[in-house]
Amino acid sequence: MTTLNAANAGTYAFDDTFKINRLGYGTMQLTGPGTWGPYKDPEAGIKVIKKALDYGINFFDTADSYGPWFADRYLAAGLKGAANRDQIFISDKVGQTRQGPNIWTPHGEPNYLRQQVEVSMMTLGLDHEDLVFLHRIDTHFSVADQVGELKKLQDEGKIKHIGLSQVTVEQIKAAQKVAKIDAVENLYNVADHRDDDVLAYAESQHMAFLPWFPLATGQLAEAGSPLTTMAQKYEVSPAQIALAWLLKRSKAILPIPGTSSVDHLADNVAAANVVLSDADFNELSQLSSK
Ligand SMILES: NC(=O)c1ccc[n+]([C@@H]2O[C@H](COP(=O)([O-])OP(=O)(O)OC[C@H]3O[C@@H](n4cnc5c(N)ncnc54)[C@H](OP(=O)(O)O)[C@@H]3O)[C@@H](O)[C@H]2O)c1
Repeated sequence: MTTLNAANAGTYAFDDTFKINRLGYGTMQLTGPGTWGPYKDPEAGIKVIKKALDYGINFFDTADSYGPWFADRYLAAGLKGAANRDQIFISDKVGQTRQGPNIWTPHGEPNYLRQQVEVSMMTLGLDHEDLVFLHRIDTHFSVADQVGELKKLQDEGKIKHIGLSQVTVEQIKAAQKVAKIDAVENLYNVADHRDDDVLAYAESQHMAFLPWFPLATGQLAEAGSPLTTMAQKYEVSPAQIALAWLLKRSKAILPIPGTSSVDHLADNVAAANVVLSDADFNELSQLSSK
């Protein structure tokens, strides 16, 4: 019998000591509408995190800007007391402020980035962050100032790895002059390959690539999905086809599908068992209209 376990997706080594299962979980759905305010049923949200642990997920992507702060609180509550807590890897993000539903304002002032890291460590109950992304580069401050502050935090032992989110290859190269960049998190899914060049560069530099919106905010998973025919062929859900495509696309890719449903969580973890043929992978790759 095939097991339902994120380990079936294979592993990714962030460093000599930290190896995670490639299929992770993103906390952004555990908030109110417009990624604002508390999730309507906090206990249910915490249950999703606990269930993710049961399914072998040991990689969680979060940010204080989700809620703000609510998703982090549910994540901390869900991970509390986990038997394998020292093997759980959290990627966090700094550099965004929130003023209301669907409103995001980059803010890269170094002091603010430092405050976010310090406060997030308190919220999440951490003595250091495994990976911190600069959520967006703020054009009001230099890359050297923003990435430089993360580098200072790294030198102080408060951050292990530094990443960048929604960046171009040129921006990554500029940041690499300031610090070692170990991960990139950009919009990418089977129907949107606009950042193929960023993925290729990440691979060449041994960086992890976290594709955000892996299910195109659910459009690839719902009725009428362009993946329906392929899903029927494999007798799986369209969401599983979307995630299986990402897992096959590159060993650097670490999908972080978001869900507030334990049923969808199970469905997503089962994608680790789906092995697409090369021909079907190539056919699916034509979906992107880049
Ligand atoms: N760095 C960035 O700028 C950035 C931006 C956006 C997101 N992110 C990260 O990326 C993660 C993923 O993005 P996302 O959550 O916004 O979008 P997503 O993973 O592409 O899609 C989430 C949506 O799909 C639905 N869904 C999930 N699994 C499903 C399944 N098996 N069947 C049917 N529907 C399913 C969810 O609804 P239900 O809750 O009903 O399952 C939700 O509406 C976030 O959680 C966050 O960590 C990062």
